[in-house]
Amino acid sequence: MAEKITFTVNRVPRTVEIEGWEKLIDVLRDQLGLTGTKQGCDDYSCGACTVLLNGKAENSCKVFAKKLNGAEVLTIEALAQGTKLHPIQEGLIEAGAVQCGFCIPGIAMRLYSLFERKLDASETEIIDALEEHLCRCTGYESILEGAKLAQKKMKAQN
Ligand code: FES
Ligand code: FES
Repeated sequence: MAEKITFTVNRVPRTVEIEGWEKLIDVLRDQLGLTGTKQGCDDYSCGACTVLLNGKAENSCKVFAKKLNGAEVLTIEALAQGTKLHPIQEGLIEAGAVQCGFCIPGIAMRLYSLFERKLDASETEIIDALEEHLCRCTGYESILEGAKLAQKKMKAQN
């Protein structure tokens, strides 16, 4: 049976009608038109669907929409400011990590969650965070390089 939920997406309160089976990714993509969040698998293994849920990186394909009342969600659409990309996006692009780009929104949100919490994260911590993500195109080295470049850019802005 359909029910209404109200939650905040990219700092804007939204009320949507959902079915009990719907996941956060369905609401974001199909109801709110936020298609930057990608679905890359059906077994919770790719990380492409990662968003921030109440400040923590989560696979949006795992979260039932009915649990979202009052929650705060941030998606990839919240990172750039107008035409100015976020340093994380700049870093990944400059390091050549973006090939088809399908995995990148999830990776960017994972890095955002890490660096917002711990801007001086070690290389090991960055690698650990990236382990949640699959990329079919790029060598993971350029993704790591992009992450480190992003960290440097964010530090310079601080
Ligand atoms: S679509 Fe969510 S982990 Fe792959
Ligand atoms: S850039 Fe294509 S899947 Fe990662």
